[in-house]
Amino acid sequence: MPDDIYRHDREKEKARRMFDSSEARKAFENVLDHDTLMALIKLQERDVLDRIYGVIESGKESVVFLADTVEGERVAVKIYMYRAGGFREMEDYLRGDKRFRNVKSDRRSIIHEWCKKEYKNLKKASRILNCPTPVAFQKNVIVMEFIGEEFSPYPKLKDVEIENPEEGLQQVLNDISDLWHDEKLVHGDLSEYNILVEKDRLVWIDFAQGVHTTHPEAQNFLERDIRNVVNFFNDQGADADPEKALKQVLES
Ligand SMILES: Nc1ncnc2c1ncn2[C@@H]1O[C@H](COP(=O)(O)OP(=O)(O)OP(=O)(O)O)[C@@H](O)[C@H]1O
Ligand SMILES: [Mg+2]
Repeated sequence: MPDDIYRHDREKEKARRMFDSSEARKAFENVLDHDTLMALIKLQERDVLDRIYGVIESGKESVVFLADTVEGERVAVKIYMYRAGGFREMEDYLRGDKRFRNVKSDRRSIIHEWCKKEYKNLKKASRILNCPTPVAFQKNVIVMEFIGEEFSPYPKLKDVEIENPEEGLQQVLNDISDLWHDEKLVHGDLSEYNILVEKDRLVWIDFAQGVHTTHPEAQNFLERDIRNVVNFFNDQGADADPEKALKQVLES
């Protein structure tokens, strides 16, 4: 037993040293359990992660940290918390997707597959639209390109002024369509909260809910994504019909 405690402390210290400031360490101590520390250490040993700066944002299921890779590339590190609820819902998204049909039912396995799903979805999506390039995943941690400048993420679509809502909507509908037809994927949680704005580029994030188009709910997710973006851009002055937009996507 004393050995275990000693190892735990040493590991904790090793992980602590990855954090750049006392503020970042405090954030990490509040949210990270021992297994997450191990995943971060593993990512350091794999020569992926170097320094972790602090929290970009924390949500109900995950915390996103800003970090640098060993190569000096700025990245976002999204950590899914084991203790968070909602993993039964994750299971439904996973089981209906032929890529993840055989996931085990325990909380940890589901969260690991969830993280892998976000990685795989980003890999597919990054071939055809603007989204973070995935760098690595390890258990409940995914590392991806940081969409921002210096230490600040680009703003969310919901927080920016839209100059040309018709054009913005068409751009998003084209991307939805390319993702559906060319990569057989639907985002599943698309809205003005999960699109960042980099000058005139729209960059989609938060891909864990994305499913293969053969998922039994895929078409419903597609309709919901389209409804969300049409409603948003209509509020900004566009004049689109969600039914027509769906037709346009499916028939393009
Ligand atoms: N790659 C990234 N680059 C820059 N900022 C990011 C990146 N990924 C996430 N963020 C920031 O962190 C916030 C939360 O990330 P994200 O939307 O992926 O998680 P979430 O909404 O908390 O998801 P979940 O519901 O899965 O917990 C984003 O709104 C964005 O501000
Ligand atoms: Mg989000």
